[in-house]
Amino acid sequence: MNPQAGLSFGQAPPYSMPLRFFLTAPLFLLAAAGLIVWAPEALASRWTPQTLALTHALTLGFLAMVMLGALLQMLPVVAGSSIPAPRWVAWFSHAPLTLGTIALMTGFLTAAPAAFGIGIALLGGGITVFLAMASISLARAAAGVTVTGVRLAMACLGVTLLLGLTLALLRAGWWKLPAAESTIAIAAHAAFGLLGWVLLLVIGVAYQVVPMFQITPPYPPRLARWLAGALFALLLLHATSPLFFPAATSFADAGLAGGILVFAVATLRLQAQRRRKLPDVTLDYWRLGMASLIACVAVWLAARLWPAWAASDAYPLLLGVLFIGGFAVSVVNGMLYKIVPFLAWFHLQAQLQARVGSIPTMKEMLAERWTRWQFRLHLVACALLVGATLWQQLAIAAGGVLALSALLLWLNLLSVARRFSGHGGRFS
Ligand code: HEM
Repeated sequence: MNPQAGLSFGQAPPYSMPLRFFLTAPLFLLAAAGLIVWAPEALASRWTPQTLALTHALTLGFLAMVMLGALLQMLPVVAGSSIPAPRWVAWFSHAPLTLGTIALMTGFLTAAPAAFGIGIALLGGGITVFLAMASISLARAAAGVTVTGVRLAMACLGVTLLLGLTLALLRAGWWKLPAAESTIAIAAHAAFGLLGWVLLLVIGVAYQVVPMFQITPPYPPRLARWLAGALFALLLLHATSPLFFPAATSFADAGLAGGILVFAVATLRLQAQRRRKLPDVTLDYWRLGMASLIACVAVWLAARLWPAWAASDAYPLLLGVLFIGGFAVSVVNGMLYKIVPFLAWFHLQAQLQARVGSIPTMKEMLAERWTRWQFRLHLVACALLVGATLWQQLAIAAGGVLALSALLLWLNLLSVARRFSGHGGRFS
């Protein structure tokens, strides 16, 4: 997915198309932070309505928002074939994802069936439109390790969506399932969403962007060939074993933990071998993300050794904070600092037929000093969030710092858009 090598202007969607996703996402991060300040009990137990609203502000409002926007932009390059009617797809996925996430969060917070109903309709419709169109592009794609990762991630998004819609019907009281089955469905929904959609997409994209942005050697080809497929197979086993072969659950879980560890360590090792040792905030975000993945495996291992820890309220919350906040939000935030300035530079150059030197470089599009401040705030927010899962008094401070970080992220991205239009760039 080398955008510089692979993206021709005729093939590229207008800047406004991915940008609307990227500028909406930090607002959901801000909403998540506001929720923590307003209802610190969101970090007290995984089952409070506030926790579920918070989870979806982060997973749908921030992570899926950026990931869908980035895929709309990048799929034509990765897959070598464009998405049909991209402007239409952008409209019919961005607005429903935004409004549907707000409705789902409202459903959790108020338990109003109507809010769940609106969330089901909008999220079901919007994500399905995206999946259908992206599948057409991926079906025509040439095989490759990134394409495999993206295909598996998309399949997991489809499963997550179906299970999520089912769970929302149950929550709204429009359907009933025996308690044991709904527990299995909730666990499968969370696993396919986090370990499937989020992790497999990051892995598939990492094969391209880590060597490209940090000028590292490529991932070992054998690892790149088997890792995403193996994790997907283990995920299927993890989700279905409670129903069919409970004895296999421990094997699946150990395999997933091992695969996660291999990916994180391989990425950190490649980054240590990078050729240009210049400071780079995106690299810091990736390192924080990989360290958080390793911490997830350690926390999971501790729960295997100490059953009292596994049964505590803090265990699933700590795992969630490390995976969603420490890993996924970090990597996606770091990537935004590459994608948004690159696209601004790319569109300016193409629109103005600019000579070198007459438009800002990618680095000049975004003030490094402010991205570094935002990284520091994010780091402190992550540390406080981890602390708050163990010591609840930290929750309000954690939410406050996360709010500042989200706001600064938004302002940093807006500054790129302002610089772009200041130099005569057209958004559509
Ligand atoms: C695509 C990304 C998504 C991810 C990563 C995700 C992740 C999660 C997670 C981690 C939980 C908490 C489960 C636990 O604590 O074990 C959860 C619960 C839930 N999710 Fe999602 N979700 C996603 C999309 C959706 C969608 C699209 C819907 C519905 C329209 C939905 C509806 C629900 C419901 C209703 C629950 C609560 C189940 C219950 O306790 O009754 N999710 N989700």
